Amino acid sequence: MDRIRIVGGHPLIGSLTIGGAKNAALPLMIASLLTRETLTLHNVPRLSDVRQLLRIIGNHGVDAAIGGKRLGQSEDQGDSITLSARDIVDTTAPYELVSRMRASFWVIAPLLARMGEARVSLPGGCAIGTRPVDLLLMALEALGADIEIENGYVVARAPDGLRGGHIVFPKVTVGGTHTALMAAVLARGDTVIDGAAREPEVVDLADCLIKMGAKITGAGTSRIEVEGVGQLGGAHHTVLPDRIETGTYAMAVAMTGGDVLLEGARADLLQSALDVLAKTGTDILADDQGIRIRRQTGAIMPIDVATAPFPGFPTDLQAQFMALMTRAQGTSHIRETIFENRFMHVQELARLGAQIRLDGDTAIVEGRNRLKGAPVMATDLRASVSLVIAGLAAEGETTVHRVYHLDRGFEALEKKLARCGAEIERLSSDG
Ligand code: UD1
Repeated sequence: MDRIRIVGGHPLIGSLTIGGAKNAALPLMIASLLTRETLTLHNVPRLSDVRQLLRIIGNHGVDAAIGGKRLGQSEDQGDSITLSARDIVDTTAPYELVSRMRASFWVIAPLLARMGEARVSLPGGCAIGTRPVDLLLMALEALGADIEIENGYVVARAPDGLRGGHIVFPKVTVGGTHTALMAAVLARGDTVIDGAAREPEVVDLADCLIKMGAKITGAGTSRIEVEGVGQLGGAHHTVLPDRIETGTYAMAVAMTGGDVLLEGARADLLQSALDVLAKTGTDILADDQGIRIRRQTGAIMPIDVATAPFPGFPTDLQAQFMALMTRAQGTSHIRETIFENRFMHVQELARLGAQIRLDGDTAIVEGRNRLKGAPVMATDLRASVSLVIAGLAAEGETTVHRVYHLDRGFEALEKKLARCGAEIERLSSDG
């Protein structure tokens, strides 16, 4: 298994390019199942989650090519993917495929909408608390689907097709909103989705579906309205930049000090996180090129934060922000309100010398102390990158094990950081 070795203490200086958002690319790829025609996605990040999802939708009959080449020929070429689901050959998404990535469960919506049936294994993915699918199934039922659970599989049926309905989410769910949208676009009649997630990735999916011929208004607000259409066509769509990758590198620069231009980043996608970062004493300059992050001298100020659905502070940046707060001039409180078990990074950060106490859903971080390099273990995607950030600021050598978690969500992480002056390298298991 690969690991990443970091020698901390170097400021980050230079520029790096922000890639397409993983969390937008995944639902967009799944949307290709809604049409017989070709969907071309540009700016798709080269990540293991993307490759895994290509396998999953390939199993349903999607013919995929990356940079003009068929899968297997050259998987790492180019950031454009063409997806053609001319015929759906299988409406079952098996456990072996779905259990590795939670988002793959969302195939249930297009399969059901287009074929009138779907059999999808209950999902897996990052171990960050129980992540049920009750709200996703509730949304499908509101559109007329019959749902049964059989031997670990969700079996959804709508033999006469889905029909429009009123979906009310009692809690904001990104995956639930993606699922509701993809089901409603091909349903007969009108659908109203109340309590919809307002995340930029939902807007990106809706924009792409509109290009494919869907009739959607209100994406980006908590009420989305959909007028069902008989069929959808192909489209070209560019995936929006990754706000979590952006925030992660911004926090890395805030922590190590330095001056880095995050090319292609969009401030409006993570304004709340940038506002928090500014309060810590980091300079932020956003323009058409991207976002420039700079911290020259001076202390990192402790700031209290609570995660919240968009436009609030993203849960996917909570671990990275905690790493930053371990170096602040005082105590900060970080409250996690989205997932109940998303503090696995705490004990690993402690191995680097961080002082963090947990009190229910709140982590109390005592800053001021220096971090010292140590071997640490990645536990989930966002937690593992917080260890990398901490390692960049720690004295001496840090080795992050189980980096396959990082490869799910961060493209060329060590190369991007090394270009900005970090001493970081990937060691393969036999290296
Ligand atoms: C997506 C993101 C993930 C991010 C999360 C919250 C992708 C691929 N993943 O995950 O990176 O951390 O949004 O911004 O886009 N819930 C239920 N019942 C359900 C569904 C969800 O109770 O049926 C709960 C969850 O347990 C959680 C909350 O709702 O407490 C939000 O989850 P949700 O927004 O659905 O997360 P994902 O879409 O899985």
